[in-house]
Amino acid sequence: MSTSTLIAPKSSASRFKIALWVSLGLITLFVFITSELLLVTDYPMYHAYRLQVIADRHLLIPHTLAGLTALLAGPFQFSSRFRQRHLALHRRLGLLYVLSVFVGSFTGIALAAGRPGLPGTSMQAAAWMVCTTAAFITARNRQIKVHRQWMARSYAVTFTFVSSRILNLWPAYWSHLGDVLAAVGVIAFTLASLLIVDLGLNWHELTTRRNASPAGDI
Ligand code: HEM
Repeated sequence: MSTSTLIAPKSSASRFKIALWVSLGLITLFVFITSELLLVTDYPMYHAYRLQVIADRHLLIPHTLAGLTALLAGPFQFSSRFRQRHLALHRRLGLLYVLSVFVGSFTGIALAAGRPGLPGTSMQAAAWMVCTTAAFITARNRQIKVHRQWMARSYAVTFTFVSSRILNLWPAYWSHLGDVLAAVGVIAFTLASLLIVDLGLNWHELTTRRNASPAGDI
């Protein structure tokens, strides 16, 4: 490998990718501390919810393990370098991701069963499974560009676990939303996440005007 390859400047796309993953990591750390750590240490505002979590532990343990696996697999699966160097591992981790999404979705629906959050959670779980299944099928069909797009949508739904908890410490968000607004909120977070990803995927087409070809096609 030549020295010029070693010190080649990073393209703006890869700088954007690094900035994005660092931001997602910092947001995840913030949510882990302000939601999960405070929940474990019995922060007074979360006390009633903590009791519910303890009662739900049999479903929550597989749910959390599956969700965490999907959340942590993302950065490896999206890394071009990791894919190029460890393709077999990328495929195995991809299968584990698919499995985790299905386990996470069904345990999520079971957790919400009989509660006002069921419609929102079911819609979120359906979006999670549809995007992930489309990503799996396009990978099997070797439609790699489209596979990446569906994986980005799937991971956007995975990340709603984090994004929907950013405001948890704000008492008005945590305790005064009401059941209906909370269910609508889950749907809104899912839809917004998917729209943001799709705007990102089409950013070039949205910001660049194509020159008309001499043949005059539209
Ligand atoms: C990164 C992926 C995910 C992880 C790591 C994860 C983990 C957890 C954890 C630790 C809890 C209990 C503590 C808390 O609420 O903060 C929980 C609750 C719950 N999760 Fe997930 N989850 C993920 C994604 C999802 C998704 C996509 C759904 C929708 C299908 C879902 C549905 C639920 C439900 C319904 C509850 C119980 C909430 C309640 O009863 O108010 N989770 N999850």
